[in-house]
Amino acid sequence: MLLRPGDLHTPTPPGELFGGESSGPVFLEIGFGNGRFLCHLADEYPRANLLGVELSPTACQRTLQRLGDHGHERVRLVLAPGEFVVRDVMPPGSLDRVFVNFPDPWPKERHRENRLLDAEFFTILADRMAPDGHLRLTTDHADYFEWSLEQADDSGLWRVQTDQPPPSTLGTKYARRWQAEDKSIEHALFEPTGEAPEIPASIHATETMHHAILKGRLPDLDEFDKLRRPFDGGQAILLHAYRSVDGERLLMTGLLEEEELSQDIIVEAYESPTEDLDDRLIVRIKPFAKPLTTEGTSQAVDLAAEWLTSLDDEYRVIERRY
Ligand SMILES: C[S@@+](CC[C@H](N)C(=O)[O-])C[C@H]1O[C@@H](n2cnc3c(N)ncnc32)[C@H](O)[C@@H]1O
Repeated sequence: MLLRPGDLHTPTPPGELFGGESSGPVFLEIGFGNGRFLCHLADEYPRANLLGVELSPTACQRTLQRLGDHGHERVRLVLAPGEFVVRDVMPPGSLDRVFVNFPDPWPKERHRENRLLDAEFFTILADRMAPDGHLRLTTDHADYFEWSLEQADDSGLWRVQTDQPPPSTLGTKYARRWQAEDKSIEHALFEPTGEAPEIPASIHATETMHHAILKGRLPDLDEFDKLRRPFDGGQAILLHAYRSVDGERLLMTGLLEEEELSQDIIVEAYESPTEDLDDRLIVRIKPFAKPLTTEGTSQAVDLAAEWLTSLDDEYRVIERRY
């Protein structure tokens, strides 16, 4: 099953993710690529609940197909950054094992901030791990490997053992590629010391569908300049505006960036279909790509409403639901 951020809560208890009666341990793989290792986990650990997180929609599609072919039903794939899932979706103590196989190495100094296994991530993950849980890292990239050991050490919350990579991690697409090139492959086991501070989720999702009601009618548009709203924890950008073919809707495409989570959104404005409210304009997030309802979606609706009210004195915000 493929989940998008809008299908999740912050946090989401494992029972909700995997179905109420699931009692097995929770294994997470971040950056599962073509899903070969996830399938191995599903075969090897029939009681485990498996969560795979990926940034690439193509990787998710291929893996869904591979899992379907194997008949695995206890696997949930999430199309989102691993940092978001660990910090905002997984409750404290919920992860029994975490696997990171051949993470993107970001070799250039100026791109290092994109690396997954930094000290901040280790600190948050330490709080999300079960007491006897562990993380396994396998990589061909010696610099990333050494760097991540230092980062774990800097967090002060992990014991680390380096070891030969287990055979199961040598079957992934990237493992095969690097072995064919005779590259050496590094492996480490990270165990939390149990002294992690409590770290709350930083993105707070709500169930409310954010919307505003304005007095006014749908505007005729000649131009639209990109709108940007920075806010504490991120920014909302409205990129383009379009009129629907039937002329009844104004659609604004946008982007929300909150911490590592970036979401594509559409804000729509349309005249209220209620007859005695025919000069009311509803502005809301279209539930199109299932965005998570966050501070960002509320800021995007407010930004669109503010922009409409700037077009003409006729417009006035009557109701804000965010
Ligand atoms: C080098 S590939 C390795 C794929 C697979 N683990 C393997 O061994 O074949 C790295 C993968 O991590 C994914 N990825 C990179 N950053 C990520 C993040 N922050 N969260 C989730 N997935 C990520 C990429 O989309 C890519 O599929």
